[in-house]
Amino acid sequence: MIVIRQLCRRFSEGAGVHRVLDGANASFPAGEVAAIVGRSGSGKSTLLNLVSGIDRPDSGEVEIGGRIVTSMGEPERTLFRRAHLGFVYQFFNLIPTLDVEENVRLPLELNGIRGAAARRRSAAILADMGLADRLHSAVDRLSGGEQQRVAIARALAHEPPVVLADEPTGNLDEETASQVLRLLLALTRSRRTTLIVVTHDPSLARSADRVLELRDGKLVAGDAGTARAHARRTGMS
Ligand SMILES: Nc1ncnc2c1ncn2[C@@H]1O[C@H](COP(=O)(O)OP(=O)(O)OP(=O)(O)O)[C@@H](O)[C@H]1O
Ligand SMILES: [Mg+2]
Repeated sequence: MIVIRQLCRRFSEGAGVHRVLDGANASFPAGEVAAIVGRSGSGKSTLLNLVSGIDRPDSGEVEIGGRIVTSMGEPERTLFRRAHLGFVYQFFNLIPTLDVEENVRLPLELNGIRGAAARRRSAAILADMGLADRLHSAVDRLSGGEQQRVAIARALAHEPPVVLADEPTGNLDEETASQVLRLLLALTRSRRTTLIVVTHDPSLARSADRVLELRDGKLVAGDAGTARAHARRTGMS
């Protein structure tokens, strides 16, 4: 269960302030797949960064599994994030000096799973992602869709209860995007992982249990059509 309470985040802008989040509230039951939509600049990435504890709010709080993430100190937040969260970024963020399997094994090792057990798990999830024959490829030799599947495997390898994904298919063609999304949804649903995914993709929004829209700094009920309208306006579909 994730609860966001009265979350505010503002940035100074010249002489004024830009209130990006202005009292956002939401709760996400365990196992829910929630899509977040909203126009470019509405604060979607800002929101995910607050939920993951990468950034801190000016006021308000984020609770994950009964723990108030926003009142933890930096070292505690880092450990919490490592154990409980998986993050899929828009631009993969894979480590170029590590091969495919090593990229996926890293979060396991950071969680104390080592040696043969870690190798077995990283190989198994990469097989789920259709990458069994690419374990030892250099990540920069892979296609965009393959790299995104490695990024998803890395986010899910340590079986976190919560996965946050920020436009995980924003850089893929439509067919590859829908294939990658099917894999992400199949795996999170089979594990009853809570997934919060920012997307402009109406088909992903349709597959979600619920669509929320960020508007004027608040989270309001949205629908898959909202994602489509935003995608059209921003030239993303
Ligand atoms: N560190 C920062 N300093 C100043 N302004 C920031 C900072 N981070 C975000 N902003 C501003 O906050 C607003 C929301 O940014 P954010 O990246 O959350 O939007 P978004 O909804 O994810 O947009 P997109 O769909 O384009 O990714 C933008 O106007 C941005 O300029
Ligand atoms: Mg963003």
